[in-house]
Amino acid sequence: MNGRATGPLVLAVETSCDETGVALVEDGRRIHANVVASQVALHAASGGIVPEVAARAHLRWIVPVLDSAWQDAGAGWNDVGAVAVTYGPGLAGSLLVGINFAKSLAWVHDKPLLAVNHLEGHVYAAWLADPGSEPEQPVFPLVALVVSGGHTFLVEMTDHLSYRLLGTTLDDAAGEAFDKVGRLLGLGYPGGPAIQRAASAATGGDIAFPRAWLGDSYDFSFSGLKTAARRIVERARADEGLPPDDPDARLAEATVARLARGFQDAVVDVLATKTIRAAEACHARSIVLGGGVAANLALRERLAAEAEARRLPLIVPRPGLCTDNGAMIGAAGARRLAAGERAGLDLDARPSLPLARRLIAAQSRG
Ligand code: KG4
Ligand code: ZN
Repeated sequence: MNGRATGPLVLAVETSCDETGVALVEDGRRIHANVVASQVALHAASGGIVPEVAARAHLRWIVPVLDSAWQDAGAGWNDVGAVAVTYGPGLAGSLLVGINFAKSLAWVHDKPLLAVNHLEGHVYAAWLADPGSEPEQPVFPLVALVVSGGHTFLVEMTDHLSYRLLGTTLDDAAGEAFDKVGRLLGLGYPGGPAIQRAASAATGGDIAFPRAWLGDSYDFSFSGLKTAARRIVERARADEGLPPDDPDARLAEATVARLARGFQDAVVDVLATKTIRAAEACHARSIVLGGGVAANLALRERLAAEAEARRLPLIVPRPGLCTDNGAMIGAAGARRLAAGERAGLDLDARPSLPLARRLIAAQSRG
């Protein structure tokens, strides 16, 4: 149980993908509860998310998750000032479970409803603080790199809730590449944490994977890397005399480690290099990192070293706040509440909701 809230709490609901999250957040910053029911085990068998299965699991877990959030916070409806919910982007069926749940709660308890963009939540995780901690806060102007399973982009923020898109992926998201290459290496779902674990056992980063620099743009592309990974894995299998498509004939553990390390290095190199370049071009006073792939240790360490060399504060939430959770939606929701925003009970799911659109080409180069 946490210290009692001194101000109203935002009750936040996140069900955009495969995590059922409910949180209670004060001031857009202090976490009083942040309960996440993960469906990872449920989707591991199929090697990826099955949308109908995900939506049904949200329905099954959302009430117990809310109950446990009340318990963790030692709070009740009298402490709540608003209900925030993710309305996109994400899986339509999953989003609808959270939206309808939040709407019902807001209506029954007569609280304002706030619609939050999931990607904005990933950015605002940088403002969160666990009980008893006072981490450094981001300062504007800042550059934020959001890297998740469905999204990879760089934005500049000169103030709260204002985004200028600097660059985005032209094909796969970084997390998607981790998941696909994880599968190629026989590491299972989700690939990101598994590749990180395998890579940490590598003795040398001696297998070179290609980097798509795309000139001086801040855009990303990971599909070529994915194709190269398939070729490199096939060659490694041939070298070890394994049949090409027998999943039970597995590469030696040391080979998997070296391949995982080479792949991870390539992704981290491109993400970190472009982020630092964008931060310098925008004269950023801080860098924010968010999204599931921001949980990656190699990425965190590389960016921390590069940012420190430039005396740029780097704000990276702890791994549990980088992957999907309700607290990040509460953090963003509180800003929207303060800005006077309210959503209606006609709020609908927006599966392809963007965070920011590119302005004009000349501006996107910073
Ligand atoms: O943000 P998130 O939890 O869900 C989406 O909004 O997509 O991100 C999930 C993604 C998955 O692709 C997963 O493989 C990746 O984040 N991920 C990681 C790590 N932990 C999660 N990727 C690399 N290293 C990690 N440690
Ligand atoms: Zn996410």
